[in-house]
Amino acid sequence: MLTLRNLGKTYANGVHALEGFSLSVARSEIIAVIGGSGCGKSTLLRLISGLETPTRGTVELNGEPVSQPHPLINLIFQEPRLLPWLTVANNVGFGLAELDGADRGRRVEAALKKVGLAKLGHRWPKELSGGQAQRVAIARALVTRPEVLLLDEPFSALDAFTRTDLQDHLLDIWSETRPTLILVTHDIDEALVLADRIIVMRPWPGRILDEITIELPKKRDRTSAAFEAAKRQLLLSLNASLQPA
Ligand SMILES: Nc1ncnc2c1ncn2[C@@H]1O[C@H](COP(=O)(O)OP(=O)(O)O)[C@@H](O)[C@H]1O
Ligand SMILES: [Mg+2]
Repeated sequence: MLTLRNLGKTYANGVHALEGFSLSVARSEIIAVIGGSGCGKSTLLRLISGLETPTRGTVELNGEPVSQPHPLINLIFQEPRLLPWLTVANNVGFGLAELDGADRGRRVEAALKKVGLAKLGHRWPKELSGGQAQRVAIARALVTRPEVLLLDEPFSALDAFTRTDLQDHLLDIWSETRPTLILVTHDIDEALVLADRIIVMRPWPGRILDEITIELPKKRDRTSAAFEAAKRQLLLSLNASLQPA
């Protein structure tokens, strides 16, 4: 269980990025956080990851406070951030330094297979397409078997075909160890395809405006009437998030 209590962040320059953000997330739940730019979404993920310290409030994982980067919490960014001087396999294995070579090799191979890149371990990051590089980032984030995976607009730099493909892939991978996912996105369909709950935020200061539960079973049919109905509900909420307070 991940518990956020009354999280707030005011940066040193006085920007009031986040206020009163409270949320309890069950193990294996998939949460999408949606809202315009400047809503404090990235700030929220950095606070949960322990990369940034809250001005107010607390983050707890299974009752223990998180106040610095935590071995059970991983973060995936919009751009893959691979290390250019390491092969794909060594990028994925980077967080497994404590394992011996053979164990590490097996774990890396299995992770690359899961993201559909079984044969590309020997390649260099610069030889990959954007979608392939982001798959490597997903493999790297999952190979340490985190309990919580935070994703900050992970597919937004990709074309629509690749994005849809990776959304499906992410669900396949998620279903194996079922980590808790918190996915920041500004793609409405992405939120509706993946999330159990969608948190709609509004800015200045960033806070929760609405929460929508999506009961449809995964994998969801993007063309179904039920999907369209959920989309309508989300669009109404997003519209409200854009109105002046
Ligand atoms: N390190 C920082 N220092 C000062 N202000 C920041 C910093 N990071 C983000 N901000 C500001 O905080 C607000 C929220 O930013 P951010 O969390 O990046 O929003 P989002 O990810 O929703 O676009 C914005 O006004 C942004 O300019
Ligand atoms: Mg952001």
